[in-house]
Amino acid sequence: MRQLDRTALRALMRREDERFVAARPRSAELSRAAKDSMPSGVPMSWMAKWPGAFPVFVDSAQGAHFTDVDGHRYVDFCLGDTGAMAGHSPSATVEAVDKQLARGITSMLPTEDAVAVGAELQRRFGLPYWQFTLTATDANRHVIRYARHVTRRPKVLVFDYCYHGSVDEAFATLDATGHVVARRGNIGAPVPPSETTAVAQFNDLGGLETALASGEIACVLAEPAMTNIGIVLPDPGYHQELRELTRAYGAWLIIDETHTLCAGPGGYTKAHALEPDVLVVGKSIAGGIPAAAFGLSAELSEQVQRRVELEDIDVGGIGGTLAGNALSLATIRTTLAEVLTDEAFSRMIPLGDRWADGVQGVIDAHGVPWHVTRLGCRAEYAFSPTLPRNGAEAAACDDFELQQYLHLFALNRGILLTPFHNMALMCPETTAEDVDLHTAVFEECVAELFAS
Ligand SMILES: Cc1ncc(COP(=O)(O)O)c(C=O)c1O
Repeated sequence: MRQLDRTALRALMRREDERFVAARPRSAELSRAAKDSMPSGVPMSWMAKWPGAFPVFVDSAQGAHFTDVDGHRYVDFCLGDTGAMAGHSPSATVEAVDKQLARGITSMLPTEDAVAVGAELQRRFGLPYWQFTLTATDANRHVIRYARHVTRRPKVLVFDYCYHGSVDEAFATLDATGHVVARRGNIGAPVPPSETTAVAQFNDLGGLETALASGEIACVLAEPAMTNIGIVLPDPGYHQELRELTRAYGAWLIIDETHTLCAGPGGYTKAHALEPDVLVVGKSIAGGIPAAAFGLSAELSEQVQRRVELEDIDVGGIGGTLAGNALSLATIRTTLAEVLTDEAFSRMIPLGDRWADGVQGVIDAHGVPWHVTRLGCRAEYAFSPTLPRNGAEAAACDDFELQQYLHLFALNRGILLTPFHNMALMCPETTAEDVDLHTAVFEECVAELFAS
């Protein structure tokens, strides 16, 4: 196996940093100006995490590409970390936006689009009753509340190193002695996470059952395959056991498909015949317009309705003034009907495979101790020779310095990957040429890194 020379890596990083800055005078200028009104010169704090001395400022984005304010064109494999999985500004969605802007954006009343969207989500995911929020975070928060309210149990079970948005209960991890503690980076936790949360390792059925047997678990909140600490796939048969155990111990099974919608038009749930009690999906379903949804089984929907008084329905912690607004619903309707279609997935998924095959070829050719994982139209490489089976194993092979370098190298050659790990996502307009450009750039990068 080839070893990485850290001193050489740092020298290469300096070279790439200089190249980045020299080619982007306008982004540099905007970044300096932005610092007058925003910490780190970014509109949201995590945007400071992009590699390079400042973030690239975008001029325009279309389909699988964007152009920055210095005139460079990029292939976008980040796609707004799934927010733009439908591609940037897909024409059907833009048309729906235009139409709805002329007819009212939000009124706190339903529109006809809501009926069509509810029916389409039923068809795709198999759950009968749907509600809408602006973000997947809110959808997760709401269903957790319902689960606690109905089961009268205090805790949410999550998997170690999961991410479900800025949901307090999910920022927990296991320490070396197996106790639930705040995850590194968890800021201002309202209470110690051990009061609200149980944590199990993904793919560990014994640990899951022990936690469920405590009788404290209102719900299990899970991505069907983990995607936020690299990709961690479920063992064969894992989901069947997860379903049986949650049923046996009376905990709701909430499947968060916000990222795993990449597995197909009905997400991982449809592709693998899962039977969640609740399903959450967000980010991409309205083509980038803020919108998310959660679906409930008939039984749980009935239980929720029975336990919430009409007079209190607006003050129970479920809601949001703009939730379910007319613009969100119009754009979900069009994006699902015309952009993220069955046919689009049948083109996107083979491109995900093409990307992964390209990366695997480079890994094999250079004997590098890394692996690549695929999940529908999403794929990801990570810095261990074998696939991790859980979040802790995936976290153990994290290498922030190396990752920043690979991303900066790619950025300097016209390719954007997600800032948080090494993920690539295909949209309906991604092409084989886009994918092959990544393979060529990755080859160049790895060959140089492991040259000695
Ligand atoms: C699986 C999953 N669920 C929920 C969310 C939260 O989405 P949002 O930030 O749009 O609320 C994310 C964000 O990355 C996610 O990956």
